[in-house]
Amino acid sequence: MAIYIDKESKTFYLEGENSTYSFFINSFGYPEHLYWGKKIHRDYLLMARSGGARSCEAKVPGTNEGGSTYNHMLPEISYFGTGDYREPTVHPVFEDGSRVTELLYSGYDILPEKPRISSMPSMSGGETLVIYLYDTIRDFGAELYYTAYPDSDVISRRIIYKNESNKKIKLDRAYSFALALPKGDYDALTLFGGWANERNPERTPLHHGVFSIDSKRATSSATLNPFMAVMERGASEDRGNVYGFNLIYSSSYALKAEGASGGHFVVSGGINDFDFSWLLSPGESFETPEAVLSFSAEGLGGMSRSFHRAYREHLINKRYVKALRPVLINNWEATYFEFTFEKLAAIVDSIEGTGIDTFVLDDGWFGKRDDDNSGLGDWVVNEAKLSGGLDRLIDYVHSKGLKFGLWFEPEMISEDSDIFRAHPDYAIGIPDRPRCYSRNQYAMDLTREDVRDYIVDSINAILKKHDIDYVKWDYNRNVTEFFSEGRDPDRQLEFSHRYALGLYDICDRIVLANPDIFFEGCSGGGARFDPAILYYFPQIWTSDDSDAEERTHIQWGTSYAYPLSAMACHVSAVPNHQVRRVTPMRTRADIAHLGATGYELDTTVFTDKDRDEVKRQVAEYHKMEDLVLDGDLYRIEDPTKTNFFSFAIVSPDKSRAHLTCYRSKGQPNPEPHIVKMAGLDENKLYFIPELNLMLHGSTLMNVGFAVNFNKGDFMTRTFNFEEK
Ligand code: DGJ
Repeated sequence: MAIYIDKESKTFYLEGENSTYSFFINSFGYPEHLYWGKKIHRDYLLMARSGGARSCEAKVPGTNEGGSTYNHMLPEISYFGTGDYREPTVHPVFEDGSRVTELLYSGYDILPEKPRISSMPSMSGGETLVIYLYDTIRDFGAELYYTAYPDSDVISRRIIYKNESNKKIKLDRAYSFALALPKGDYDALTLFGGWANERNPERTPLHHGVFSIDSKRATSSATLNPFMAVMERGASEDRGNVYGFNLIYSSSYALKAEGASGGHFVVSGGINDFDFSWLLSPGESFETPEAVLSFSAEGLGGMSRSFHRAYREHLINKRYVKALRPVLINNWEATYFEFTFEKLAAIVDSIEGTGIDTFVLDDGWFGKRDDDNSGLGDWVVNEAKLSGGLDRLIDYVHSKGLKFGLWFEPEMISEDSDIFRAHPDYAIGIPDRPRCYSRNQYAMDLTREDVRDYIVDSINAILKKHDIDYVKWDYNRNVTEFFSEGRDPDRQLEFSHRYALGLYDICDRIVLANPDIFFEGCSGGGARFDPAILYYFPQIWTSDDSDAEERTHIQWGTSYAYPLSAMACHVSAVPNHQVRRVTPMRTRADIAHLGATGYELDTTVFTDKDRDEVKRQVAEYHKMEDLVLDGDLYRIEDPTKTNFFSFAIVSPDKSRAHLTCYRSKGQPNPEPHIVKMAGLDENKLYFIPELNLMLHGSTLMNVGFAVNFNKGDFMTRTFNFEEK
């Protein structure tokens, strides 16, 4: 069991493996947050309330009790106009123009089965508590959903807003959650970036007023990932209280942490309310996306491991989450758009015997697509380019014992395409305004059912006709214009959320409808790396920047919220195509092995020695693959702050571990570089073949050992730990 109730004090306790989350229903019927942190006993907690109305604070409507202002109650939800001046969780506009609501307790339910959100991805399993709140004056309701997991320290939250009146209600804001953190000094850790430079960590002190991150792009974006950690000022990688927030959402979002006048901090978020409103007709409900909340008393590392475990157990497709991943060769950086059957067949021949098991044909196989100016949306094989069509190539690939993968960019349309000539309105745009190009293409209007049907039918036709084992789903531009031709003017502000719903609909009908095909997410690199995408796609292309040095930063940042198994990482050519850097082949492989690995370079120029090296690398990867898929990650050396990077991955039973260490710049006269392992069992004895030593976990973690790198820049060393 994960949910307990003290009926007398109306206190709810949500218990994770090592954490407790608690709130109670106060005498006004308002759900008041009490505690979220390290696991505690189910004691009476009301003595910890601060409360206290001051001058200039309004009392709860209709009362004149001392100490009764909403502005000082710690919220589970907050709303505007009744004395609460903090960021509202919801902002309804009623038909008479008034915007005031007071949502008060009307009951609760505990659901043994977690209901699936009808139109959006969400976590599964756990035990779900629903708190029913109701505004009896406006017949407006809010249902607060909390799912607790006894085996982990995450809680998922969302809210359903209900119009039970006989008039229209417009939601100008409809966030998924709010909660309070007690008075203290906190920093926010967020992940910013851009193309080929995704998910850089940034630590910002929180302050009075609002700290916020968001996306206005109708995608979760590379600019700011929909993730925020709020950390106690002294918290670090392995110490201190850290609260993590991650939205299972792929469109415009907001996450906020507000330092309130009472000293506490209110964290809230969900769908971005900028350029948003949603019209609820009588009887209609609005479901918000789910937010995943993770607590750890063991610093950022503990928070990340909680997210990773929860996503593996309760979010990612069970069929694939722990299944061995394709070790693939992708032709993109080998050929770009210039390929023939013969060239692709030569790539296939050149990897024979290496252990690479999947060949992926990237962009350029369809329509008129010899560069990125044309062809998107015409999902018809270009037989003039690929003589013999797809089947000839697929048969060839299969005859060599490899699986076959194919690239699509389902959401896009080129101006120079047959589909655009026939249906220019399929592209998002405003009829009397020019559209913005981005990568020479437009985005399709996924808010429209006929457009979605076209995408689903044309892609499923290819998947049905050909024997395809793997699909790479790309997405190379963000939405502009935010308008859907034909939709009512008073519903145009629903566009960005409807885009997400449209995306999930086509994912349901393409990804989930083809369960035997392995789907990888991609977004011009890693520009849509979020838990909703992870629900459909067990792995996501992490970045178009595959340079090993850059990847230590990108993979480090990505790992704050997402497990290693979610990150697709390739060994590519040198000089690297994005940064022209030359790094050793071994280094490129060691860094790419910290995720779902693959190769993306012209293997037809390989010497026998290169082929032997790849064979060795693939064999090595297979030895550690179970750790990548299911191990606990310990980040040891931070490349964003030091000359080093190291990741340790430890099996759940702590009987095995793998350590990858990397030194960026070579040092002329290096001091001994001691690395202390993490995550091992102190009392277990481990054999480390690379050191030819048998040492206890306690020694490895407290004394450490010297890691000697070869001379030069960008060097790696790897170590294995086996319990004896
Ligand atoms: C962007 C992706 O990230 C690349 O891997 C490649 O698939 C190109 N798009 C193809 O256009």
